[in-house]
Amino acid sequence: MSKRGIKIVGTGSFVPKKIMTNDDLAKIVDTSDEWITKRTGMKERHYVTGEEDQTLLAENAARKAIENAGINREDIDVVVVCTVSAEYYSPSSACLIQGRLGLRNDIICLDVSAGCSGFIFGLETIRALMMARGAKYGLLVGAEVLSKKMDMTDRGTCVLFGDGAAAAVLTLDDRPYFSTIGVEGDEEMIHIKVPTGLIHMNGQDTYKFAVATVPTVIESVVKKAGLTYDDIDHFILHQANLRIIESIAKKVDQPMDKFVVNIQKYGNTSSASVALALDEAYKGGIIKEGQRTLLCAFGAGRTWGAVII
Ligand code: UT7
Repeated sequence: MSKRGIKIVGTGSFVPKKIMTNDDLAKIVDTSDEWITKRTGMKERHYVTGEEDQTLLAENAARKAIENAGINREDIDVVVVCTVSAEYYSPSSACLIQGRLGLRNDIICLDVSAGCSGFIFGLETIRALMMARGAKYGLLVGAEVLSKKMDMTDRGTCVLFGDGAAAAVLTLDDRPYFSTIGVEGDEEMIHIKVPTGLIHMNGQDTYKFAVATVPTVIESVVKKAGLTYDDIDHFILHQANLRIIESIAKKVDQPMDKFVVNIQKYGNTSSASVALALDEAYKGGIIKEGQRTLLCAFGAGRTWGAVII
Protein backbone atom coordinates (compact mmCIF):
# COMPACT_ATOMS: atom_id res chain seq x y z
CA MET A 1 0.00 0.00 0.00
CA SER A 2 1.27 3.52 -0.78
CA LYS A 3 2.29 5.74 2.08
CA ARG A 4 -0.64 7.87 3.22
CA GLY A 5 0.50 9.59 6.41
CA ILE A 6 2.59 12.71 6.82
CA LYS A 7 5.73 13.12 8.89
CA ILE A 8 7.29 16.46 9.73
CA VAL A 9 11.06 16.15 9.33
CA GLY A 10 12.05 19.75 9.96
CA THR A 11 10.59 23.11 10.98
CA GLY A 12 11.71 26.71 10.89
CA SER A 13 10.32 30.17 11.55
CA PHE A 14 11.20 33.77 10.95
CA VAL A 15 9.74 37.02 12.28
CA PRO A 16 10.86 40.57 11.54
CA LYS A 17 12.99 42.27 14.22
CA LYS A 18 10.67 45.20 14.96
CA ILE A 19 8.48 44.56 17.99
CA MET A 20 5.23 46.47 18.38
CA THR A 21 4.11 46.39 22.02
CA ASN A 22 0.63 47.14 23.30
CA ASP A 23 2.00 50.43 24.65
CA ASP A 24 3.38 51.30 21.19
CA LEU A 25 -0.10 50.70 19.73
CA ALA A 26 -1.70 52.82 22.43
CA LYS A 27 0.31 55.78 21.07
CA ILE A 28 -1.46 55.58 17.70
CA VAL A 29 -4.83 53.96 18.50
CA ASP A 30 -7.36 54.57 21.30
CA THR A 31 -6.42 51.43 23.27
CA SER A 32 -4.36 50.31 26.26
CA ASP A 33 -2.01 47.53 27.33
CA GLU A 34 -4.57 46.61 30.00
CA TRP A 35 -7.45 46.18 27.50
CA ILE A 36 -5.43 44.17 24.96
CA THR A 37 -3.84 41.92 27.61
CA LYS A 38 -7.12 41.24 29.41
CA ARG A 39 -9.21 40.63 26.27
CA THR A 40 -6.66 38.73 24.17
CA GLY A 41 -3.53 37.69 26.12
CA MET A 42 -1.39 39.54 23.56
CA LYS A 43 1.53 41.69 24.73
CA GLU A 44 3.45 42.31 21.51
CA ARG A 45 3.64 41.40 17.82
CA HIS A 46 6.29 41.82 15.11
CA TYR A 47 6.02 44.25 12.16
CA VAL A 48 8.07 44.40 8.97
CA THR A 49 10.11 47.52 8.27
CA GLY A 50 11.93 48.92 5.24
CA GLU A 51 12.43 46.37 2.47
CA GLU A 52 11.08 43.40 4.47
CA ASP A 53 8.06 41.77 2.87
CA GLN A 54 5.99 38.58 2.90
CA THR A 55 8.29 36.83 0.40
CA LEU A 56 11.34 37.54 2.54
CA LEU A 57 9.66 36.14 5.67
CA ALA A 58 8.51 33.03 3.76
CA GLU A 59 11.95 32.51 2.24
CA ASN A 60 13.77 32.75 5.57
CA ALA A 61 11.37 30.41 7.35
CA ALA A 62 11.70 27.91 4.47
CA ARG A 63 15.51 28.06 4.55
CA LYS A 64 15.50 27.35 8.28
CA ALA A 65 13.10 24.41 7.92
CA ILE A 66 15.21 22.85 5.16
CA GLU A 67 18.37 23.32 7.24
CA ASN A 68 16.65 21.81 10.29
CA ALA A 69 15.47 18.83 8.24
CA GLY A 70 19.01 18.31 6.89
CA ILE A 71 17.68 17.34 3.46
CA ASN A 72 18.98 18.04 -0.01
CA ARG A 73 16.74 20.78 -1.48
CA GLU A 74 16.95 18.98 -4.84
CA ASP A 75 14.62 16.39 -3.28
CA ILE A 76 11.74 18.85 -2.76
CA ASP A 77 8.90 18.05 -5.17
CA VAL A 78 6.07 20.31 -3.97
CA VAL A 79 5.95 23.80 -2.42
CA VAL A 80 2.75 25.14 -0.86
CA VAL A 81 2.60 28.59 0.73
CA CYS A 82 -0.44 29.42 2.87
CA THR A 83 -1.08 33.14 2.96
CA VAL A 84 -3.65 35.93 2.73
CA SER A 85 -1.03 38.63 2.28
CA ALA A 86 1.23 37.59 -0.61
CA GLU A 87 3.24 40.34 -2.31
CA TYR A 88 1.59 39.70 -5.67
CA TYR A 89 -1.77 38.42 -6.93
CA SER A 90 0.48 36.68 -9.43
CA PRO A 91 3.01 35.05 -9.45
CA SER A 92 2.28 32.96 -6.39
CA SER A 93 4.38 33.23 -3.25
CA ALA A 94 5.32 29.54 -3.69
CA CYS A 95 6.64 30.29 -7.16
CA LEU A 96 8.86 33.05 -5.75
CA ILE A 97 10.16 30.66 -3.07
CA GLN A 98 11.17 28.17 -5.78
CA GLY A 99 13.24 30.90 -7.42
CA ARG A 100 14.76 32.32 -4.24
CA LEU A 101 15.77 28.91 -2.91
CA GLY A 102 16.91 27.60 -6.30
CA LEU A 103 14.66 24.54 -6.12
CA ARG A 104 14.24 22.17 -9.09
CA ASN A 105 12.09 23.60 -11.89
CA ASP A 106 9.92 20.51 -12.45
CA ILE A 107 8.00 20.86 -9.17
CA ILE A 108 4.51 22.02 -8.22
CA CYS A 109 4.34 25.46 -6.54
CA LEU A 110 1.05 26.98 -5.41
CA ASP A 111 -0.51 29.18 -2.74
CA VAL A 112 -3.42 28.26 -0.47
CA SER A 113 -5.76 30.94 0.88
CA ALA A 114 -7.89 29.74 3.78
CA GLY A 115 -7.56 32.61 6.26
CA CYS A 116 -6.30 31.52 9.65
CA SER A 117 -7.10 27.88 8.78
CA GLY A 118 -4.38 28.17 6.12
CA PHE A 119 -1.79 25.83 7.61
CA ILE A 120 -4.30 22.99 8.07
CA PHE A 121 -5.72 23.44 4.55
CA GLY A 122 -2.10 23.59 3.38
CA LEU A 123 -1.28 20.27 5.08
CA GLU A 124 -4.26 18.61 3.40
CA THR A 125 -3.30 20.07 0.02
CA ILE A 126 0.40 19.24 0.14
CA ARG A 127 -0.27 15.70 1.35
CA ALA A 128 -2.64 15.09 -1.59
CA LEU A 129 -0.11 16.50 -4.06
CA MET A 130 2.74 14.52 -2.53
CA MET A 131 0.73 11.30 -2.75
CA ALA A 132 -0.26 12.03 -6.36
CA ARG A 133 3.34 12.65 -7.36
CA GLY A 134 5.03 10.11 -5.08
CA ALA A 135 7.00 13.07 -3.76
CA LYS A 136 10.05 12.58 -1.56
CA TYR A 137 9.70 15.89 0.29
CA GLY A 138 7.18 18.72 0.42
CA LEU A 139 7.78 22.23 1.72
CA LEU A 140 4.84 23.89 3.47
CA VAL A 141 5.11 27.53 4.49
CA GLY A 142 2.69 29.85 6.33
CA ALA A 143 3.71 33.49 5.87
CA GLU A 144 1.91 36.76 6.55
CA VAL A 145 2.53 40.49 6.60
CA LEU A 146 -0.68 41.67 8.23
CA SER A 147 0.66 44.96 9.58
CA LYS A 148 0.08 46.36 6.06
CA LYS A 149 -3.52 45.15 6.08
CA MET A 150 -4.66 47.00 9.21
CA ASP A 151 -7.37 49.63 9.27
CA MET A 152 -5.91 51.72 12.09
CA THR A 153 -9.31 53.34 12.71
CA ASP A 154 -10.75 49.91 13.69
CA ARG A 155 -9.28 49.40 17.16
CA GLY A 156 -11.15 46.12 17.71
CA THR A 157 -9.16 44.49 14.90
CA CYS A 158 -5.92 46.39 14.27
CA VAL A 159 -4.36 45.54 17.65
CA LEU A 160 -4.67 41.80 17.06
CA PHE A 161 -2.53 40.95 14.06
CA GLY A 162 1.22 40.61 13.50
CA ASP A 163 3.74 39.55 10.86
CA GLY A 164 5.65 36.27 10.73
CA ALA A 165 6.35 33.05 8.87
CA ALA A 166 6.94 29.40 9.69
CA ALA A 167 7.62 26.34 7.56
CA ALA A 168 7.73 22.57 7.72
CA VAL A 169 9.46 19.97 5.55
CA LEU A 170 7.25 16.92 5.15
CA THR A 171 7.63 13.39 3.93
CA LEU A 172 5.03 10.67 3.35
CA ASP A 173 4.88 8.10 6.11
CA ASP A 174 3.45 4.64 6.77
CA ARG A 175 1.55 5.70 9.85
CA PRO A 176 -2.16 6.51 9.43
CA TYR A 177 -3.25 10.11 8.94
CA PHE A 178 -6.32 11.67 10.56
CA SER A 179 -7.82 15.03 9.73
CA THR A 180 -11.08 16.95 9.69
CA ILE A 181 -11.65 19.94 7.49
CA GLY A 182 -14.64 22.15 6.71
CA VAL A 183 -16.06 25.38 5.41
CA GLU A 184 -19.34 27.26 5.59
CA GLY A 185 -18.57 29.68 2.74
CA ASP A 186 -19.10 33.10 4.29
CA GLU A 187 -17.53 36.50 3.64
CA GLU A 188 -19.17 38.52 6.43
CA MET A 189 -17.26 37.26 9.47
CA ILE A 190 -13.77 38.17 8.27
CA HIS A 191 -12.60 39.41 4.90
CA ILE A 192 -9.91 41.33 3.07
CA LYS A 193 -11.67 43.08 0.20
CA VAL A 194 -9.64 43.64 -2.95
CA PRO A 195 -10.09 47.43 -3.37
CA THR A 196 -9.08 48.33 0.20
CA GLY A 197 -6.77 45.41 0.95
CA LEU A 198 -7.64 45.85 4.64
CA ILE A 199 -8.83 43.22 7.13
CA HIS A 200 -12.41 43.61 8.27
CA MET A 201 -13.50 41.34 11.12
CA ASN A 202 -16.66 40.95 13.17
CA GLY A 203 -14.80 40.08 16.38
CA GLN A 204 -17.73 38.86 18.46
CA ASP A 205 -19.11 36.69 15.66
CA THR A 206 -15.65 35.18 15.12
CA TYR A 207 -15.24 34.56 18.84
CA LYS A 208 -18.59 32.73 19.05
CA PHE A 209 -17.81 30.74 15.89
CA ALA A 210 -14.45 29.65 17.33
CA VAL A 211 -15.65 28.52 20.76
CA ALA A 212 -18.65 26.70 19.25
CA THR A 213 -16.85 25.03 16.33
CA VAL A 214 -13.37 24.12 17.55
CA PRO A 215 -14.41 21.65 20.31
CA THR A 216 -16.55 19.70 17.82
CA VAL A 217 -13.70 19.70 15.29
CA ILE A 218 -11.29 18.37 17.92
CA GLU A 219 -13.81 15.74 18.98
CA SER A 220 -14.32 14.67 15.37
CA VAL A 221 -10.62 14.13 14.56
CA VAL A 222 -9.87 12.41 17.88
CA LYS A 223 -12.81 10.01 17.31
CA LYS A 224 -11.69 9.30 13.72
CA ALA A 225 -8.28 8.35 15.05
CA GLY A 226 -9.85 6.01 17.63
CA LEU A 227 -8.21 8.00 20.43
CA THR A 228 -9.33 9.89 23.51
CA TYR A 229 -8.33 13.44 24.47
CA ASP A 230 -5.95 11.96 27.05
CA ASP A 231 -4.01 10.27 24.22
CA ILE A 232 -3.08 13.69 22.79
CA ASP A 233 0.18 15.02 24.24
CA HIS A 234 -0.12 18.58 22.91
CA PHE A 235 -2.78 20.79 21.38
CA ILE A 236 -1.71 23.60 19.07
CA LEU A 237 -4.65 25.86 18.28
CA HIS A 238 -4.67 28.92 16.06
CA GLN A 239 -3.34 31.77 18.22
CA ALA A 240 -6.23 34.23 17.91
CA ASN A 241 -7.14 34.94 21.53
CA LEU A 242 -5.94 33.38 24.80
CA ARG A 243 -9.54 33.42 26.08
CA ILE A 244 -10.60 31.30 23.09
CA ILE A 245 -7.86 28.75 23.81
CA GLU A 246 -8.77 28.66 27.53
CA SER A 247 -12.45 28.21 26.74
CA ILE A 248 -11.70 25.32 24.37
CA ALA A 249 -9.37 23.66 26.90
CA LYS A 250 -12.22 23.80 29.40
CA LYS A 251 -14.75 22.36 26.93
CA VAL A 252 -12.55 19.39 26.07
CA ASP A 253 -11.61 19.06 29.76
CA GLN A 254 -7.85 19.11 29.19
CA PRO A 255 -5.25 21.03 31.25
CA MET A 256 -3.92 24.29 29.83
CA ASP A 257 -0.34 23.01 30.05
CA LYS A 258 -1.12 20.69 27.11
CA PHE A 259 -1.95 23.76 24.98
CA VAL A 260 0.95 25.50 23.29
CA VAL A 261 0.55 29.28 23.66
CA ASN A 262 2.81 31.96 22.15
CA ILE A 263 0.17 34.57 21.39
CA GLN A 264 1.72 36.99 23.91
CA LYS A 265 4.80 37.39 21.66
CA TYR A 266 3.35 37.34 18.14
CA GLY A 267 -0.37 38.22 18.24
CA ASN A 268 -2.42 36.65 15.48
CA THR A 269 -0.26 35.74 12.45
CA SER A 270 -3.11 34.01 10.55
CA SER A 271 -1.74 31.28 8.22
CA ALA A 272 1.60 31.29 10.07
CA SER A 273 0.23 30.97 13.61
CA VAL A 274 -0.08 27.18 14.05
CA ALA A 275 3.28 26.57 12.32
CA LEU A 276 5.01 29.24 14.40
CA ALA A 277 3.76 27.65 17.61
CA LEU A 278 4.73 24.19 16.32
CA ASP A 279 8.28 25.30 15.49
CA GLU A 280 8.75 26.98 18.87
CA ALA A 281 7.32 24.05 20.80
CA TYR A 282 9.52 21.59 18.93
CA LYS A 283 12.71 23.65 19.21
CA GLY A 284 11.93 24.49 22.84
CA GLY A 285 11.78 20.77 23.71
CA ILE A 286 8.08 20.94 24.60
CA ILE A 287 7.11 18.57 21.77
CA LYS A 288 9.33 15.51 21.66
CA GLU A 289 9.91 12.97 18.88
CA GLY A 290 7.09 10.44 18.75
CA GLN A 291 4.54 12.48 20.72
CA ARG A 292 1.02 13.04 19.40
CA THR A 293 0.11 16.65 18.62
CA LEU A 294 -3.27 17.91 17.51
CA LEU A 295 -3.21 21.01 15.28
CA CYS A 296 -6.45 22.95 14.90
CA ALA A 297 -7.36 26.25 13.27
CA PHE A 298 -10.38 28.30 12.26
CA GLY A 299 -10.88 31.52 10.34
CA ALA A 300 -12.05 33.52 7.33
CA GLY A 301 -14.64 31.89 5.10
CA ARG A 302 -15.88 30.14 8.27
CA THR A 303 -13.24 27.52 7.65
CA TRP A 304 -11.88 25.04 10.13
CA GLY A 305 -9.57 22.09 10.25
CA ALA A 306 -7.68 19.76 12.55
CA VAL A 307 -4.91 17.24 12.02
CA ILE A 308 -3.23 14.79 14.38
CA ILE A 309 0.51 14.49 13.72
O1 UT7 B 1 -7.79 34.88 13.16
C1 UT7 B 1 -9.13 35.10 12.92
C2 UT7 B 1 -9.87 34.76 14.11
N1 UT7 B 1 -10.07 35.95 14.94
C3 UT7 B 1 -10.53 35.80 16.16
O2 UT7 B 1 -10.68 34.70 16.64
C4 UT7 B 1 -10.92 37.02 16.95
C5 UT7 B 1 -12.13 36.67 17.80
N2 UT7 B 1 -12.63 37.81 18.56
C6 UT7 B 1 -11.97 38.28 19.64
O3 UT7 B 1 -10.91 37.82 19.97
C7 UT7 B 1 -12.64 39.36 20.44
O4 UT7 B 1 -13.98 39.52 20.00
C8 UT7 B 1 -11.91 40.75 20.31
C9 UT7 B 1 -10.58 40.67 21.01
C10 UT7 B 1 -11.74 41.13 18.86
C11 UT7 B 1 -12.74 41.84 21.00
O5 UT7 B 1 -12.98 41.46 22.36
P1 UT7 B 1 -14.46 41.55 22.95
O6 UT7 B 1 -14.36 41.15 24.36
O7 UT7 B 1 -15.36 40.76 22.05
O8 UT7 B 1 -14.75 43.09 22.87
P2 UT7 B 1 -15.99 43.83 22.18
O9 UT7 B 1 -15.84 43.84 20.71
O10 UT7 B 1 -17.25 43.30 22.78
O11 UT7 B 1 -15.79 45.30 22.71
C12 UT7 B 1 -15.94 45.62 24.10
C13 UT7 B 1 -15.57 47.07 24.30
C14 UT7 B 1 -16.28 48.03 23.36
O12 UT7 B 1 -16.55 49.21 24.08
P3 UT7 B 1 -18.02 49.49 24.67
O13 UT7 B 1 -18.94 49.47 23.49
O14 UT7 B 1 -18.29 48.38 25.63
O15 UT7 B 1 -17.86 50.83 25.31
C15 UT7 B 1 -15.24 48.32 22.31
O16 UT7 B 1 -15.42 49.57 21.69
O17 UT7 B 1 -14.17 47.24 24.08
C16 UT7 B 1 -13.98 48.30 23.14
N3 UT7 B 1 -12.77 48.02 22.37
C17 UT7 B 1 -11.56 48.42 22.76
N4 UT7 B 1 -11.13 49.13 23.80
C18 UT7 B 1 -9.83 49.37 23.90
C19 UT7 B 1 -12.68 47.30 21.22
N5 UT7 B 1 -11.39 47.25 20.85
C20 UT7 B 1 -10.68 47.93 21.76
C21 UT7 B 1 -9.31 48.21 21.93
N6 UT7 B 1 -8.94 48.91 23.01
N7 UT7 B 1 -8.38 47.77 21.06
